[in-house]
Amino acid sequence: MNPLNHVAIIMDGNGRWGLKYKKSRNAGHKAGLNTVEKIIKETIKNKIKFLTLYAFSTENWKRPKKEINFLFDLLENFLKERINELHKQNIKLKIIGLKNFSPKLNKLLNLSEKKTLKNKRLQINLALNYGSKFELINAFKNLQKSKEKINEKNLSKYLLTKNIPDPDLLIRTGNTRRLSNFLLWQLAYAEIFFENKLWPEFNEKDYNKIIKKFKNIKRNFGKI
Ligand code: FPP
Repeated sequence: MNPLNHVAIIMDGNGRWGLKYKKSRNAGHKAGLNTVEKIIKETIKNKIKFLTLYAFSTENWKRPKKEINFLFDLLENFLKERINELHKQNIKLKIIGLKNFSPKLNKLLNLSEKKTLKNKRLQINLALNYGSKFELINAFKNLQKSKEKINEKNLSKYLLTKNIPDPDLLIRTGNTRRLSNFLLWQLAYAEIFFENKLWPEFNEKDYNKIIKKFKNIKRNFGKI
């Protein structure tokens, strides 16, 4: 059985779910947050050490201002209400992406990271204002400046995922089969599962089914 150390998730389908059931995309984001909570609990139950969630891409700035503000308010309230609980559960929160939000949100994100820095049970990486191509260009620039040898090990030191092992498993919900500029380097050998359900409909049972399938895959990493 394959060890499972790191799960990455593209949480897609909030908008469609919201429009279908509540006539509002934002209602879908709110419902999506409940799924986030369920999946965090189930990740702990499965003793998985890293969970990376794609919450906001560099491309998501093209959405209407109203939706962007709603998403960041949702995140702000979530952190204000839940960070103590996450900390008590020994969960570490790390933001991957450029923190150039409002001064208030930046401060809250920094405080949340600092508070949970030493926690060991599970590390949640929240990809916020994240784009893989930007990350790679930046990493190559910094590696070049450092004059170190250009190789995989040295490059990974300049990625936003420094010190985080690569994901073993990527799940994308929402019946869409693409990577959307997410962890393009880090996913080189991940097993990829595309799930038809929209993110707010995705549940513990669906997650465990994928984990079980993942554990039974023969992973070759190029060997036979
Ligand atoms: C993609 O669905 C989802 C997002 C861009 C936002 C993800 C946010 C959440 C799951 C809730 C908030 C999370 C935190 C941690 C506060 P989409 O809107 O692109 O869906 P669509 O393809 O149906 O339009």
